[in-house]
Amino acid sequence: MSTQPPRRAGNAGRYLFLVLLGLIVGAICAVMALRALQARQDPFPEALMNVMAHQSGALRDAAKSSRCTINDTLPRLQSLRALSNDIESGFPDLRDDTRFATAASGLRADLDKALASPPADCAQLAAINERIGEDCKACHRDFR
Ligand code: HEC
Repeated sequence: MSTQPPRRAGNAGRYLFLVLLGLIVGAICAVMALRALQARQDPFPEALMNVMAHQSGALRDAAKSSRCTINDTLPRLQSLRALSNDIESGFPDLRDDTRFATAASGLRADLDKALASPPADCAQLAAINERIGEDCKACHRDFR
């Protein structure tokens, strides 16, 4: 006499339970793994870059829409200059690379010049925007 047939229904329920349990445990593990990855990643460097991109984008928009008074541009330039102080601390692995440090200093030097003699019209603003863009590229070419 076999005892197997009557147990079929019970097994199906058990398999379903195990499959669901597997899915739940898998989901929990996936969330934990993502959290761990996220915790390792420092959001600061990308945040810094995105805010710098926002400010330099605003300067380009100002030039395009002829809003080129010092009131329009100086706060942006000051903000970019202050943000650029933190480039090295945002990328601690790169700060000792001379090309990286030179590119960061180059951006700061051009912003210092722009702050020392702020753009008086849209042509001057466009020239400054051009230089800032080159300074960003000088670093991104090698490190982005
Ligand atoms: C001295 C080096 C350096 C300078 C100067 C620099 N960047 Fe970056 N930038 C980087 C590096 C390195 C990355 C790559 C970051 C990453 O993906 O982790 C980056 C990435 C970015 C990103 C992408 C960020 C993201 O969300 O992945 C933007 C936008 C950006 N930079 C904008 C700018 C702008 C605008 C300027 C100039 C005003 C600038 N950067 C100047 C080094 C620099």
